[in-house]
Amino acid sequence: MIIVRGSSSALLSEHLAAESGWGLASSELKRFPDGESYVRVVSPLEGEDILVVSATFPDSNIIETLLLHDAVSRKKPASIRLLVPYYGYQRQDKLFKDGESVSAEVIAGVLDNRFDEIMTVDLHAEGVSKYIRNTKTKNFVASPQIAKHFRRKEIDTVISPDGGLRAVEYAKIAAKELGCDYDYFLKERIDSATVKLYPKKVDVKDRNVLIVDDIIATGGSMLAAIRRLKELGAKHIYAGCTHGLFTDSALAKLKEAADEVISTDTIESEASAVSIAPLVSEHLFELRH
Ligand code: R5P
Repeated sequence: MIIVRGSSSALLSEHLAAESGWGLASSELKRFPDGESYVRVVSPLEGEDILVVSATFPDSNIIETLLLHDAVSRKKPASIRLLVPYYGYQRQDKLFKDGESVSAEVIAGVLDNRFDEIMTVDLHAEGVSKYIRNTKTKNFVASPQIAKHFRRKEIDTVISPDGGLRAVEYAKIAAKELGCDYDYFLKERIDSATVKLYPKKVDVKDRNVLIVDDIIATGGSMLAAIRRLKELGAKHIYAGCTHGLFTDSALAKLKEAADEVISTDTIESEASAVSIAPLVSEHLFELRH
């Protein structure tokens, strides 16, 4: 297997290469002065199995992913898989209002029929992968990796800041990894930066708590959960997410509020303390043996 990295996935690609022993293709990725993408894959790829690691966020990476596919396929590899560390355009997975675009279906349609497999990490919306109609898909769940990072912190409870089925399942999986309890808050989103937590009682007095979520964007959900846990007397509060978008100075605010804040390397930031590389390499080794 040879890894071809997109410009937003350098750290994860390096982690993958180190984890699996696969080579990293040499490539040139740049932008023309007008902002257009330029990609060139220098390494020979003929007859090789290729893993392209490239996000569909922000918009410019959608084009880069398509150009990487084109550049790689011209080198006649045996197979081309795509790992989309952070899959953009999941919000609009159906028509909410007349006249809208179903952007999740559009992006899936663009990626479909090009790759041998499309791998994603903690897709936020169930609906997204159903639009990838003709390509094998695999979605990884990162919360066990986040849990492992906090193993030495003697976590008593894992909390989901949200009572949604997927969010609670995500916390449950992390709790299983740590052999501890889990619970959740009930959240209402007021607007894109404001959330309200219902005053549900969770038993965290004098306990070490890990809050897990798939995404931290503005940090509103995580901050509301941290504040509530403090009111309820939690001892130490740790926060972990898969995709650390960290808009609106979210990371600085969260670092002030919690004992530790981390994300995975699906989106590279100073908080990327955990890698999803072991999940990907285990999956691909299983397929090959
Ligand atoms: C929402 O359903 C997600 O699981 C996250 O809780 C949400 O995207 C986090 O956004 P923010 O950090 O802006 O509250």
